[in-house]
Amino acid sequence: MALFETRGLTAFYGDFQALFGVDITVDAGETIAIIGANGAGKTTLMRSIAGVLINEPDAIVFDNEPIGRLSSPDILARGIAMVPEGRRLFPSLTVEENLKIGNYGRVVDGVFDLDSIYALFPVLAERRRSPATALSGGQQQMVAIGRALMSNPRLLLCDEISLGLAPVVVRDIYAAFPRIRASGAAIVIVEQDIAQALKVSSRVYCMMEGRVTLSGRSDALTRDAIHRAYFGADHELA
Ligand SMILES: Nc1ncnc2c1ncn2[C@@H]1O[C@H](COP(=O)(O)OP(=O)(O)O)[C@@H](O)[C@H]1O
Ligand SMILES: [Mg+2]
Repeated sequence: MALFETRGLTAFYGDFQALFGVDITVDAGETIAIIGANGAGKTTLMRSIAGVLINEPDAIVFDNEPIGRLSSPDILARGIAMVPEGRRLFPSLTVEENLKIGNYGRVVDGVFDLDSIYALFPVLAERRRSPATALSGGQQQMVAIGRALMSNPRLLLCDEISLGLAPVVVRDIYAAFPRIRASGAAIVIVEQDIAQALKVSSRVYCMMEGRVTLSGRSDALTRDAIHRAYFGADHELA
């Protein structure tokens, strides 16, 4: 039995339909990746799961319970935390204040607290009293990840955490993932960097125009199949 599942998930912005029956599963402790071009619906999927967009109750199931109608505070309280696209830190608050916001609404025993997050990202300990805006993009991303971890999530959603960051910084951030996994959390990574997505995950889903066009084990998908699922069958292979 999967820890988490979407079943025929749809999403709308007014009259515009952004998701057309998306089915994904995540097992306990598993890391999956969602890939796809700009506009494929990846963020919409994350926002639906996190309760930012409200759904049919049965379209999202967590721990055998329908959660599609729950609000984002209720979703967080159950153990699903999101690192949102664009990080969305509170700019005037310090690093530490931003981190502390993360377990407002879910206080549970777990491996993650301020100390263990500073151990995970030591540079944040040095900058703990700095306003979030004083940090580099990579450091801000670490705060966003740390903030989500403060709730000791059972499912962590990460939306494009490497976007706009230098490769060396991306490497530092992904270096934290084995330790996040060791907490027992299941992880959903949204990535446009296909190589990175395949490296960090055991399974991958590719989306295009609001649908899952390919899924499979990350070590078994061919470059050709991914290319077709990403851009469509009639797109020329480069
Ligand atoms: N707030 C919104 N209002 C209207 N349309 C939106 C909104 N957010 C996203 N969309 C549209 O929904 C589709 C999926 O977007 P999104 O989920 O952001 O894709 P991705 O994260 O894969 O780039 C796109 O066509 C996008 O233009
Ligand atoms: Mg997006």
